[in-house]
Amino acid sequence: MNIIKARNSVEEFFYKNVSKRLFFMFDPEYVHDRVTNIGVLMGKFSVGRVLTRVMFGYTNPALEQTVLGIRFKNPIGLAAGFDKNGRLTQVLPSVGFGFEEVGSVTGEPCSGNPGKRLWRLKNSQSLLVYYGLKNDGCEAISERLDKLKFEFPIGISVAKTNDENTVDELQGIADYVKAYMTFKNKNIGDYFTINISCPNVFGGEPFTDPEKLDRLLRAISEKDTQRDKPIFLKMPAELSFDVIDRIIEVSRKYHISGFICTNLSKNRASEKIKDHSVPDVGGMSGKVVSDLSDNLISYIYKKCGKEFVIIGCGGIFTAEDAYRKIKKGATLLQMITGMIFEGPQVISSINLGLVELLKKDGYNNISEAVGVDR
Ligand SMILES: Cc1cc2nc3c(=O)[nH]c(=O)nc-3n(C[C@H](O)[C@H](O)[C@H](O)COP(=O)(O)O)c2cc1C
Repeated sequence: MNIIKARNSVEEFFYKNVSKRLFFMFDPEYVHDRVTNIGVLMGKFSVGRVLTRVMFGYTNPALEQTVLGIRFKNPIGLAAGFDKNGRLTQVLPSVGFGFEEVGSVTGEPCSGNPGKRLWRLKNSQSLLVYYGLKNDGCEAISERLDKLKFEFPIGISVAKTNDENTVDELQGIADYVKAYMTFKNKNIGDYFTINISCPNVFGGEPFTDPEKLDRLLRAISEKDTQRDKPIFLKMPAELSFDVIDRIIEVSRKYHISGFICTNLSKNRASEKIKDHSVPDVGGMSGKVVSDLSDNLISYIYKKCGKEFVIIGCGGIFTAEDAYRKIKKGATLLQMITGMIFEGPQVISSINLGLVELLKKDGYNNISEAVGVDR
């Protein structure tokens, strides 16, 4: 048996029988904050990073790609929302991630929605998220990242501050532009994501309306006259294909590089929900959103081919889940929920599994498998 596989099996056993049982006894946001503190500590010193790499690392040239001029050591990224404040950038490469998306970061600091705002839907293998874009704001986060060097590509996800002021369209646009330009001016990050699909904020998701999106992207283009970094759009899970078509048109006009498919699902009627009671607020991740993500990847890839780079996100728990999204048209992937249910070793298990699946199908590199099942 491969030594990485054996290591991962032991870690998985330990995670599922000890750590996860302990974690799942406490409030998920409390656990997340404590785990983040451990991650910050492990990333701070080289001994912590080396130890983490020994426990979780895995590399293979078959997983390496250059996408939009950015070098990725593997296709698995940490999705936006886990490291909202950019505190884990130093440790995550050692955990095995190929990149991460910091944020979503907003123009102003925001404490998020009041009360409980994260639930585990254990039977559905999903998280119900109602954070409401809690984050330290673009100034504090950019200052934190400005001092650092990064071992892997960093995406900056920007959104508008969750308060009543940004419900007004012009104020909302100004807030997005502020967050974007704060990072742009300091030259932080390898790509940007415009998050138009947070389900948990004042005023809903106005910029999924193609005309409003046009005005938002125009404002960004007018401010960022020297565009040198790719921009992605974070797509909602539940839009009609007619609206998706119009978003694609607007994206062409403003030279958007790609789409992240997808954000959380709000559909309480989904047959993927296996838990008896789901609170009314918030959006669901994991297995609940998996098929919606797959369908949107397929739709956009069938329509546009390689014109846009697709980042597949939603319900990746195994190498098979990851490979399916790649074969449908995703060049890169992102995940959160799979790591929480399976343990941090799942990143290298997925990467190792991908190498085996590629080999079985006769591919030398991951890029050869993109979109083969279109
Ligand atoms: C706790 C949590 C917080 C999230 N916050 C954000 C966010 O701030 N911005 C964003 O674009 N997506 C956010 N998301 C959505 C994820 O980026 C991702 O699209 C979704 O969870 C599906 O992936 P998964 O099934 O691998 O978790 C969040 C998800 C979770 C679980």
